[in-house]
Amino acid sequence: MLVDGKHFRTIWDNDGVVSLIDQRWLPHDFRIETIRTVEDMATAIRDMHIRGAGAIGAAAGYGMYLAATSSSSSSSSSDPRKSIRAGAELLNAARPTAVNLSYAVKRQLRILSDTPDNDLGNTALTEARAIADEDAAACKLIGHHGGKLLEILSSGKNGQTVNVLTHCNAGWLAFVDFGTATAPIYEAFDRGIDIHVWVDETRPRNQGSRLTAWELGQHGVPHTIIADNTGGHLMQHGLVDAVIVGTDRTTRSGYVANKIGTYLKALAAHDTGVPFYVALPSSTIDWEISNGLLEIPIEQRGPEEIRYATGELEGKTQSVLIAPAKSPAANYAFDVTPPRLVTSLISERGVFEANEEAILAMYPEMR
Ligand code: MRU
Repeated sequence: MLVDGKHFRTIWDNDGVVSLIDQRWLPHDFRIETIRTVEDMATAIRDMHIRGAGAIGAAAGYGMYLAATSSSSSSSSSDPRKSIRAGAELLNAARPTAVNLSYAVKRQLRILSDTPDNDLGNTALTEARAIADEDAAACKLIGHHGGKLLEILSSGKNGQTVNVLTHCNAGWLAFVDFGTATAPIYEAFDRGIDIHVWVDETRPRNQGSRLTAWELGQHGVPHTIIADNTGGHLMQHGLVDAVIVGTDRTTRSGYVANKIGTYLKALAAHDTGVPFYVALPSSTIDWEISNGLLEIPIEQRGPEEIRYATGELEGKTQSVLIAPAKSPAANYAFDVTPPRLVTSLISERGVFEANEEAILAMYPEMR
């Protein structure tokens, strides 16, 4: 995507030197970080320098490359397989909910297990690039399929503004390029459809107001930031034509784990008859579990994200306490929306219902 007119992915390498956009400083400061070790990549994922399902999948792919490189350059007495296994463990533990991370680690472990020791670095780099490229390609196709849905909504309104509500950041910052929830929006906007986006601010880390609003602004898409609790009111008053969100893990039966607060939007959409779409690459589908409410691990983050608000003051990033100093806070990072509240899933293969039959019809190789 374009940042001040220049094309960027969220993570990339130049001759094996891995760089990423450090999202902690956005929207005020655009910083690029170079990551040299698997330990630093695990920190970047855990502390959310890079975040979002597809982006942390690609980061994990590159993290495994860094683990493989450190093993191939280490002394002959060390076991290169050992550092790869240790790297995998470290990365897998960095964030629990998004399945793209373990998907990328598993892919690397599988390919490296068949690779001779002297080729581990090269093979892992090729695979990391493939994971990143596939993520970008899937998001582009999601844009294509989802863009058609927005085109239909636009025709139904005789070309009047289509209002889309989104939650958190499932934009290009959350993937390698294009994004999932935002890809149809960019596609529709580029095709000249009159579109406007309601951006949930997404407390406590404000991925909506900090990241999605910034991204949409970079692309020139009209948007308005709203407090998280506003969506239901807008839907009751006919001011939302569709909700499109991303997901961090979707089960084979259509349960959708996404940023905390998504379930409440789905309930409001269901009550008001607003279509609720979930956009995802197939790397986000967890084929091994079925009941998302029972089986998806929900990350709990530190209470300081709730007790403090972070912003920029006089050119410096600052955090201020916004709660009584001694009140405890609980910080559940994700919730699970059941399939009955999801109108359709949008993946790289098309648009389909959120149930096992429809999902397997789209992915027959997973039967
Ligand atoms: O905690 P985050 O910011 O990594 O949350 C993940 C997400 O980006 C959102 O849940 C998003 O809507 C899912 S798609 C990447």
